[in-house]
Amino acid sequence: MKIIYAKDYDELSRKAANRIAAQVILKSESVLGLATGSSPLGTYRRLIKLYEAGDVHFSKCRAVNLDEYCGLPEENTQSYAYFMKENLFRHIDIRPENTYIPDGMNRDMEGECGRYEETVRSLGGVDLQLLGIGHNGHIGFNEPCDFFPKETHCVELSKQTVDANSRFFPKREDVPTHAYTMGIGTIMAAKKILLIASGEAKAPILLQMATGPVCPQVPASILQFHSDVTVIADEDALDMLMENAPYLIQELPEL
Ligand code: F6R
Repeated sequence: MKIIYAKDYDELSRKAANRIAAQVILKSESVLGLATGSSPLGTYRRLIKLYEAGDVHFSKCRAVNLDEYCGLPEENTQSYAYFMKENLFRHIDIRPENTYIPDGMNRDMEGECGRYEETVRSLGGVDLQLLGIGHNGHIGFNEPCDFFPKETHCVELSKQTVDANSRFFPKREDVPTHAYTMGIGTIMAAKKILLIASGEAKAPILLQMATGPVCPQVPASILQFHSDVTVIADEDALDMLMENAPYLIQELPEL
């Protein structure tokens, strides 16, 4: 696991976008695994700038997203399909038919999970998977549990997550209670993984992820077993790693 220091969110976003752009420049038909949430927003903004400057083109890329809420149509502003369109896809030259995300409206849960897993496989696997990390170590919607879920599956969202999400919906009954997510096995099958984290609230979990035991109670800890993981985190998120395991961090500034 290569851990790279960034001064702040801006620098983190620039470093992450440069790595994704490099992947696409070196292999124009790359399969990019993408994430939603606040961590990748700056990275996507930077990628859009690189595209606008003519430095990178996505016309041959395929994009597969990690997860999607069940029961939300893609026009719903809270769906991850909507998020991806608004924050990245509609600003670059990726072809809509080359973007994939679980179909949250498919009520056949088993069928949808099998279909999505097969989609990822049929693309030849993910070349570069972008990840954020939850405060509890979740990646995708793989929450802490007693085992590592292997393939794409449907998860019941914790009450805590439903409560947190209820601020985005007019009524609590509208808040999704389930989501489809790639499994830990699907994520680990990516050739390269790029995890980004920002802010002091992520400091304890970054320390646990990188130095703690590999266990399903901290799902992201499994990344210690992947042969090509890069973590880019800002100074606040790296705070506890800098104190407890500075030797793990590359590109630390001279103090
Ligand atoms: C998003 C996803 C989640 C987020 C994680 C961190 O597609 O799969 O695992 O990456 O919850 O979210 P932020 O970036 O909002 O802190």
